Amino acid sequence: MSTNIEIKWIAILPILSQITFMDKSLVGKNAIVTGAALGIGKETSLLLARKGANVIVSDIKEEEGNRLVNEIQNFGGTASFVYCDVSREEDIIQLTNYLPNQNKRIDIMVNNAGIANKPTFMHKVSTEVWNQLILLDLTSVFWCQKYATKLMLADKKGGSIINVASIAGLGASPSLGPYCVAKAGVIELSTTGALEVAKAGIRINAVCPGWTETAILDVAGERGKSAMEKNIPMGRLGKPNEVANLIVFLASDESSFITGSVYKIDGGTRS
Ligand SMILES: NC(=O)c1ccc[n+]([C@@H]2O[C@H](COP(=O)([O-])OP(=O)(O)OC[C@H]3O[C@@H](n4cnc5c(N)ncnc54)[C@H](O)[C@@H]3O)[C@@H](O)[C@H]2O)c1
Repeated sequence: MSTNIEIKWIAILPILSQITFMDKSLVGKNAIVTGAALGIGKETSLLLARKGANVIVSDIKEEEGNRLVNEIQNFGGTASFVYCDVSREEDIIQLTNYLPNQNKRIDIMVNNAGIANKPTFMHKVSTEVWNQLILLDLTSVFWCQKYATKLMLADKKGGSIINVASIAGLGASPSLGPYCVAKAGVIELSTTGALEVAKAGIRINAVCPGWTETAILDVAGERGKSAMEKNIPMGRLGKPNEVANLIVFLASDESSFITGSVYKIDGGTRS
């Protein structure tokens, strides 16, 4: 009889220790993640929720977004899906007002949604493709940062904004011209914006992933992906959860003295 009880205790000990030591440092914080249905945004949403944040999962992919909300709720986390096409300013205004409309504030805003252009040399890029990339990868981040900052300034409690740029914004990447230009703009938007609101306790940082194993790389095809891998000193693509770890660090109070910074996370890639 007593051996049975001992065996049961041994079986639940690992679970108990996980519960005891689980990092719940983001309990009480509200976070918005754009482009949250897949890839880096999905992993970021999961990690924010595991650490206790209430996560607003936002994307144009409703099915995948709602599936992620269910996944978060299944492990006891809190999340809601809000549709937002980041290429529409009115959608972003609605998204940023979602929490204040429920008498909650935005503590964390992760501006992650983005697309890559089909590889094309600059002199062959059509005006349509150029405009689409700049709108979706740069103007959208400007809107998200602008409206989140205004709300954070109004309630005077600070906040953390993380803009997902790319190492493509730090150096030349032939055939990815519009993407490079948009991401370089995101870096400037972050560093300049950060200095303007630093005294108000609002931190703005940019994360620059190198090639990371997500659907966005599909434009490069399998041959393109293996060429990318060969150029990464660590010899492999990044994983979306590795980028999420950095984003969530910048979202948390552990990074309380970091603002206006630009972080590469790329397995040592030289850009
Ligand atoms: N994967 C990489 O190699 C890599 C490298 C550097 C930077 N990034 C950046 O990371 C961010 C996330 O990309 P990912 O790699 O996870 O790609 P992904 O394709 O897996 O995810 C992108 C997400 O953005 C969403 N999205 C696309 N258009 C949208 C729109 N108009 N409105 C709202 N959401 C929209 C998609 O539905 C998807 O959920 C992007 O900004 C991307 O530029 C990725």
